[in-house]
Amino acid sequence: MAEIPRRPIPETVASELQLGQVAMSPEWIPDAADGRTLFDTPQSEDGTVTVVFAQEKFQRWRSQALVRIDSQEDGRVYLAQVVSGPYAAPIGLPPTNPALVITQVEGTLFTPPYHGWARLTILGELCDGEVVVPLQRPRPNSPARLLSPEETRKALNCDGDLRLGYAVGFDNLPVGLRSQEKAHIPRHTLTVGTTGSGKSTFLAGWVERLSAAGFCVLLLDVEGEYASIHRPANSMRILPALKARGMEPQGIADTYLLVPTTSAPSDPHHPRIRRFCLNFSDISPYIVVELLGANDAQTDRFFAAYDAAGELLTSLGLAPDSDRHAARLQDWDDQESGYPDLKLAHVLDMAQAVSTVVSRDEISDNFLHAEGFRGHTARLSEKANLVKEKLGHAASWRKTVRLIAALYRTGLFDRMGARATDGRAIESLDYERMLKPGRVLIYDLAGLESPAHRNLAISDVLRGVITAQDRLYDAAPVEQKPKTVVIIEEAHEFVSAERLAQLPAVFGQIQRIARRGRKRWLGLVFATQFPQHLPSELFTLCNNRILMRLGDEPTLRKLQHSVGGVPDNLWPRLKNLPTGQAIVSAQGIEPAMLVALDPGRCLLRMVD
Ligand SMILES: Nc1ncnc2c1ncn2[C@@H]1O[C@H](COP(=O)(O)OP(=O)(O)O)[C@@H](O)[C@H]1O
Ligand SMILES: [Mg+2]
Repeated sequence: MAEIPRRPIPETVASELQLGQVAMSPEWIPDAADGRTLFDTPQSEDGTVTVVFAQEKFQRWRSQALVRIDSQEDGRVYLAQVVSGPYAAPIGLPPTNPALVITQVEGTLFTPPYHGWARLTILGELCDGEVVVPLQRPRPNSPARLLSPEETRKALNCDGDLRLGYAVGFDNLPVGLRSQEKAHIPRHTLTVGTTGSGKSTFLAGWVERLSAAGFCVLLLDVEGEYASIHRPANSMRILPALKARGMEPQGIADTYLLVPTTSAPSDPHHPRIRRFCLNFSDISPYIVVELLGANDAQTDRFFAAYDAAGELLTSLGLAPDSDRHAARLQDWDDQESGYPDLKLAHVLDMAQAVSTVVSRDEISDNFLHAEGFRGHTARLSEKANLVKEKLGHAASWRKTVRLIAALYRTGLFDRMGARATDGRAIESLDYERMLKPGRVLIYDLAGLESPAHRNLAISDVLRGVITAQDRLYDAAPVEQKPKTVVIIEEAHEFVSAERLAQLPAVFGQIQRIARRGRKRWLGLVFATQFPQHLPSELFTLCNNRILMRLGDEPTLRKLQHSVGGVPDNLWPRLKNLPTGQAIVSAQGIEPAMLVALDPGRCLLRMVD
């Protein structure tokens, strides 16, 4: 076979081809960017953009990561965040290709080269260091660059000194609220999560940090969980979690355990137990009837007995200081407080007396209370008969007496000066003296059986605290304004949506406290496993949200409806959040972030 003659390509042609190559495709340099924006499709949504990246960049991409996009065509710069993905897609094959599926299932691995993609939400356009609302979107093929941990920290600006924990998916990115920022603590906090999601463990640590930052913390502990937080944690679940964060178990300093008169303390060995009672005359009668759950007939009778008892007290001159009594009576606001100097025993004696005369029985002095109307049987009887003329019905009176008597038996009210069974003196609460920077006051309400009675105590603590905080705040020099936080555990028991209609005075009080608290550095923290039972008005009072695991679909939907600041893509995560993780949203933590919360270092008592 004749050989094919080979001739060199003429020099002119070779040089021409080479020239063309240079002009058409410059030497390929690896892309310095971490990814590139893709063209949009009809499914594209405003505010989101898809980025693709090479296989070797895959491990750099993470959910929630922050990304800078330089839209080179128009010179705009955007800040974006990964909201779905990173996903892998085979190159040149649809990922659902049967050949791929079969080989992977059969274990005969066939992994073609692939690339990654992620959907980003555009947080804003960067203009002179500010993030502003974007009016455009990045052009296709714009380089996307993942922010370094340092840049991320700066961009998010979420590492306040009151540390909540660390952002999930970032290297060493602390997330916290700011102790000096008025938009944080005094704007109130909602902590929700199913039982076992880690609320109490987080709150215990939060108490420690608030106290260390100089806040006075009041814990309304309805189950006695926090009675031993002066001791270090010893739970086998917490110790490893603490160790992983380089934290040592440690009790909280400067705690006081405040126990109602006759209740058994949840921790009898607490070094600073104080026995307290409340003053009945501090509490508005409207709040009392609401919280006792009185029906209409009982409410009418309660007020009749209340007013008659007040009148009798004044006319008998039973108040210890009659001038002061007269002055206080003059400016008494019955929505804000109770009848001056009136004790629960007075109301009980009066109700009992009316009930007795309605049943045509004789009032016996023996049944009257020493701190009530004992020794004044004749005048009491006279007054009771007047009440009877207006309101009869023996059965309703008996029920009203029963409501009042049950409250009396709790020993919550008017026992100052007496001694508790453990020999401790019972004090009434002097909030102005109690509120001190760094102090932690635990109200051990577990001994009060009835939720109604616990709620009365909570209501009075709130009233007393805001009044004291108001005065202390106004009196303090600018640099030393006192800061206080009140934590209400099991908040759904105190304010529930279903009972809202029956609790206008209580809810009105919460709203007033919340509003005044904002200006006076009194922050409320509501914790609950049943956010669906909270009135939605309460959500709007809380600007900080710490949302832990919540499995229940309707609850999630309701919450999603009433809580702003959490991107849609984060909501489904709530269902499967590991214990101790939360979606956190607050002023400056926008969009909301997934945070692995710091567990408390102190001991929590097991309650179930
Ligand atoms: N961050 C965490 N790391 C490890 N274990 C935790 C963490 N937070 C809570 N736990 C454990 O989970 C359980 C439930 O926590 P708890 O705080 O009582 O939840 P909740 O108050 O929401 O019911 C406890 O056994 C606790 O030790
Ligand atoms: Mg709990």
